[in-house]
Amino acid sequence: MEYTQDRLMRQAREAIVATNLASDAQIELVAPKPNIPADLAFPTFKAARDRQMPPPQLASELASQISFGADSLLATASAAGPFLNFSINAPNYVASVLADIARLGNRYGSDDLGANQRIVIDYSSVNIAKLMHVGHIRSTIIGQALYNIFKFLGYTVIGDNHLGDYGKQFGMNIAAIVKWGKPTGQDEEALAQLDKLYAQYSREAKEDESLHDAARMWSLKLEQGDPTATELWQWMVDLTLTAIQENYDRLGVKFDHAYGESFYAPLNAGVIAEALASGLAHRDEGGAVVVNELEQNMPTFLLQRSDTGTLYHTRDMGCIKYRMETFTPSQIIYVVGSPQELHFRQLFALSRAIGYVPEGVELSHVKFGTIFDQHGKPLSTRAGNMIYLTDLLNDARDRARLVVDASSPDLSEAERADVAEKVGIGAVMYNDLYQDSRRNITLEWDRMLAIEGNSAPYIQYMYARCRSIARRILGDQTSATIPACDATLLNHPSELDLVRQLAKMPSSVRDAADRYATFVIAEWCYDTARTFAGFYRDCPVAKAEDEALRTARLALTVATAQALKNGLGLLGIGVAERM
Ligand code: ARG
Repeated sequence: MEYTQDRLMRQAREAIVATNLASDAQIELVAPKPNIPADLAFPTFKAARDRQMPPPQLASELASQISFGADSLLATASAAGPFLNFSINAPNYVASVLADIARLGNRYGSDDLGANQRIVIDYSSVNIAKLMHVGHIRSTIIGQALYNIFKFLGYTVIGDNHLGDYGKQFGMNIAAIVKWGKPTGQDEEALAQLDKLYAQYSREAKEDESLHDAARMWSLKLEQGDPTATELWQWMVDLTLTAIQENYDRLGVKFDHAYGESFYAPLNAGVIAEALASGLAHRDEGGAVVVNELEQNMPTFLLQRSDTGTLYHTRDMGCIKYRMETFTPSQIIYVVGSPQELHFRQLFALSRAIGYVPEGVELSHVKFGTIFDQHGKPLSTRAGNMIYLTDLLNDARDRARLVVDASSPDLSEAERADVAEKVGIGAVMYNDLYQDSRRNITLEWDRMLAIEGNSAPYIQYMYARCRSIARRILGDQTSATIPACDATLLNHPSELDLVRQLAKMPSSVRDAADRYATFVIAEWCYDTARTFAGFYRDCPVAKAEDEALRTARLALTVATAQALKNGLGLLGIGVAERM
């Protein structure tokens, strides 16, 4: 899709090419440094070198030859040393940006560049019979944001919650249930009890080898489809999914599939046979199937243990094969914590070597760091500072409620509850998405919930501010429709700054997808909120000098609200009309 900013770049490029002084391949357009009063720049170095001409000379020759028509998005091209600087035709540019937003509404920023391409995203991927721990929180939030972003760009996205529902630990879970009975609580409580039973069993098994044997036996029985083992396992799967669903709902998380590792178990034998037949793996003296060193310094790994049990890698191989055959994706993205980096390197290397994944298909591991508590300590069960998702979200909501009660005492009880939920959850999500996922995050509530600064509440607050301005002018019936206006009236520097900022949204979304970087969108949202604050400070809307200017500023305000809502929506963060 061609947005205003794309059209502007195209017009600049076409104007340069038309002079015959530089070819398309020699042109790279860049954003000028912040202190340069221009909108776009062409550094002429490369083209000048090819013509054996000093860059400033080329820049000034270009400037003297280029001019723009009255309906162009550009007004001027001027030389500044080796640079050719372009400035916008403000009235045309403003009208075009507002028209983009008015035309596309809640699709502003979307694109069709992913049409006919499928992307599988493996995220959340919680482990059965465990409370959702911190690693899964990040995977869930980041994965869903990536899902939203790629979908917005026109890709067909397949979200798969790759449940950890298979493996030796379920042998231990089942052995523990057989030994001590099923937990009696409901939902999360039962899940927590199950978690404890497991911990107790594994503790006792350290002293008592027979407990290990029992666990191993149940794990094999499960693999062989034994009815008792299967029934207990299914009970654990169902319990886990029911207990988690409320959290998913609160976070706006939705999957297309939740196949889980066990789904791929029937493919294990084929994977092992193919790995052996290809010569990429061998059977060792003990009978285990070992994958050879696939790349220099890549540790070998197992596809089958000597007792014939299979491993995480085996199921992931079957899974990748299944995904390729079923979805023929152009890309598979795994949103999983950094500690599994080696696992995915090995998995990707083997699946390419064996031919499951052809060259043109991208395999990506989007890694993320650890969550630290307020005191800078990593959350861990052992250290006793583990926070489970439900508690985290409730805590966030309750803290947000205090802020909302203080800042908006005039809202009704129901409205304050709604705002507190959106602000609290938004704060948690934003904290996860506003910086590079590889970095660790800290639960610093004061910063996360601050109405000032780089936080979700600040951005949500600016959205509500936009909407309240619209309500003041149009009354309670105001809609998201952008009123028709005379765009030429918007020529104050703060108005133009805001229009330029809104024009950047589409490229931010594309950039975020290219880099798997939710922070690009978060940054855009924050910058937009700040730029809006500058506009609002400098340019009265309701109290504008005359009716026409008031309508033009109102249009800009309503457009800002729309774009902000779209941006936050991609991150999975909701907005409130009043705050
Ligand atoms: N359940 C795994 C864990 O908790 C994450 C699974 C990630 N996805 C995958 N295809 N391996 O560590």
